[in-house]
Amino acid sequence: MTIARLTWGGYDYLPFAFDGWLQDPNCYTFGIEIDGHLVALNNLRLIDDRSTGWMEGLRVNRYHRKRGLARVLTKHIVEFAAETGVSRVRYTTDTTNAASLKLGQEVGMQRIFDMGVFWAGTDKIEPSGRPGRRLVNVNAETFYEQFLSSPDLVPNGTLIFDWKAVQVTKSSVLALEGKCRFWTSVRRGVLESFSLGLDRKEMKGIEWSFTVYANDDDAFLSHLGYHLSYAKKHKYNAAMGTYPLGFRKALLSSPMIPKESRRRFALTLLEKQFSSKSARSLVS
Ligand SMILES: CC(C)(COP(=O)(O)OP(=O)(O)OC[C@H]1O[C@@H](n2cnc3c(N)ncnc32)[C@H](O)[C@@H]1OP(=O)(O)O)[C@@H](O)C(=O)NCCC(=O)NCCS
Repeated sequence: MTIARLTWGGYDYLPFAFDGWLQDPNCYTFGIEIDGHLVALNNLRLIDDRSTGWMEGLRVNRYHRKRGLARVLTKHIVEFAAETGVSRVRYTTDTTNAASLKLGQEVGMQRIFDMGVFWAGTDKIEPSGRPGRRLVNVNAETFYEQFLSSPDLVPNGTLIFDWKAVQVTKSSVLALEGKCRFWTSVRRGVLESFSLGLDRKEMKGIEWSFTVYANDDDAFLSHLGYHLSYAKKHKYNAAMGTYPLGFRKALLSSPMIPKESRRRFALTLLEKQFSSKSARSLVS
């Protein structure tokens, strides 16, 4: 709690994730203690049918920063991941987080692609009056079947939501059922756009976190308007939207987005692939 309180002005999701990490058999949490106090931590989560090591939650207590603790944890978690037999490790970070980018680069990670991110307080959102595409709320299985008609909607086959990334396979999509909700727009049997949304708990309240993928601006704006109205109607604190950068112009010029939310903020996905030789099974 001390670490989280001093991170991102108190907007840290760590307190809501920590217990889950300790209970999840796919998670491996590491920390550094000084005088019996936890001062730094990070977590490795095995996802995508245990083929990806997802690195998350790297934190160093503000009073112990710039002493190399994050470097120690990052190196350790990448080496540990290789031993579990995963074929790659990944994480997302804000494109302006110099320390995080540097740490990834030092362990041989590369930037794969960026996605835009914005936040809007629901009190500032102007609901859209524009008519849009017909969006249908579908379950994860239907979404996956529809997705097969337009796999190119998602760059690199990697679905980004709520600062996480999963490869779009049937099992990874089905694993999102109950956690995320999906909306799709299909024309003549082809998926032309979709979005997914979920609750995001933070110290200062619950946000509606959503990602939109679309093949044109009009479809993009339909989903955007839907999710902003959804967040307002359901009395979320704020909405956090993630979107392919090709829609940045449409987003920044949309009257639905409050002025203070029109920022060129982005996340980036970093990845390091392991050769099958370097990854040996933890079991053996
Ligand atoms: C990012 C964070 C984990 C770095 O922890 P740290 O223990 O201070 O990092 P290290 O001391 O291991 O530094 C690693 C490198 O990053 C650089 N670095 C650290 N903080 C930096 C900053 N604020 N700006 C620019 N570079 C920074 C260091 O200079 C070092 O490089 P150098 O040895 O060549 O000088 C820590 O600042 C933190 O907890 N931040 C808030 C949460 C966060 O951003 N987590 C990562 C993304 S999820």
